[in-house]
Amino acid sequence: MLDMPARRDELRATYDLAPNPGLAARMQDEYARMKRVVSPADWAMHAPYVAAINALKRERGAAILAHNYMTPEIFHGVADVVGDSLQLAVEATRTKADVIVQCGVHFMAETSKILNPTKTVLMPDMAAGCSLADSITAEGVAEMRARYPGAPVVSYVNTTAEVKAASDICCTSSNAVQIIRALDAETIVMTPDKYLAQNVAAQVPEKRIVWWDGSCIVHEQYTAQDIREFRDWNPGTRIIAHPECPPDVVAEADFSGSTKGILDYVSAERPERAMLVTECSMASNISDAHPEVEFIGPCNMCPYMKKITLEKVLWSLHSMTTQIEVDADIAGRARQAVQRMIDLSARKV
Ligand code: 13P
Ligand code: SF4
Repeated sequence: MLDMPARRDELRATYDLAPNPGLAARMQDEYARMKRVVSPADWAMHAPYVAAINALKRERGAAILAHNYMTPEIFHGVADVVGDSLQLAVEATRTKADVIVQCGVHFMAETSKILNPTKTVLMPDMAAGCSLADSITAEGVAEMRARYPGAPVVSYVNTTAEVKAASDICCTSSNAVQIIRALDAETIVMTPDKYLAQNVAAQVPEKRIVWWDGSCIVHEQYTAQDIREFRDWNPGTRIIAHPECPPDVVAEADFSGSTKGILDYVSAERPERAMLVTECSMASNISDAHPEVEFIGPCNMCPYMKKITLEKVLWSLHSMTTQIEVDADIAGRARQAVQRMIDLSARKV
């Protein structure tokens, strides 16, 4: 396999990738969606990649599915579908494209492959992992089953295919409460995010929820004291936290929800000032659609999500690598857990 400098040489020999202010000026429609957060000089560098990716995407019959934490030039420049983990899983079942390029982390690409075993699913960087997915194995699920006999296991979608295959049903941050409420059991195991589990437990006190000891390295960095101090210094700011944050952080916030939930809340409430207690790109990606909102305050970067760049997306489509493969037996069992989640989330409550 070629190393990055060799790949770069091959890409530059094949596509016109030099910074191009003229092309950037002609691509004003794309730029208008990220003007507030991407400088004209940066756009002149991104535009040739965006143009090359979009042309190659059509040639290959590919669709790009991008998570809300992708950088603005990917999110607004090349993605066909954007969303939270649940939206991306659902869209993966709907796409007509033969090739899916997953702009997100590895478990998302694996989920797309599980739901589309005959399609080609490409991952621009296989090192784009997730601290939650890394925190548990199928043996860990078996351990929880032994400790809590008869309790159903609900695994966050941020897990490997093996863990999904060993679980009864999956959940995402947008449907976890709905899934837990719908399960006919007094005790329920949630893996691997202890904070999501604790935040769900606070909303579903009638059930006993037990959890695995995993956490997200991005959201666990926030503390309740940070939030209180921020509120004191910035009175009137609406504080919106992702449920992967510790429960005392969520308790200090005005609203908590998945990345789609955050976007819906901002769109409905249109606060004058907002602090999004989540990954940095979330505020960047919704900034231009909400010029009336001033997004302020600290954010934390996900080092895994940030491994995905325009250059790697172009290489992925150019070389048709790296293709995600999942063992057929594991994929079959994992598909049941994911499909149960999709079916249950679609139910009106
Ligand atoms: P959602 O987009 O489902 O809220 O998940 C956030 C996340 O951490 C994905 O890795
Ligand atoms: Fe995983 Fe957290 Fe990064 Fe999401 S933000 S991919 S949960 S490490």
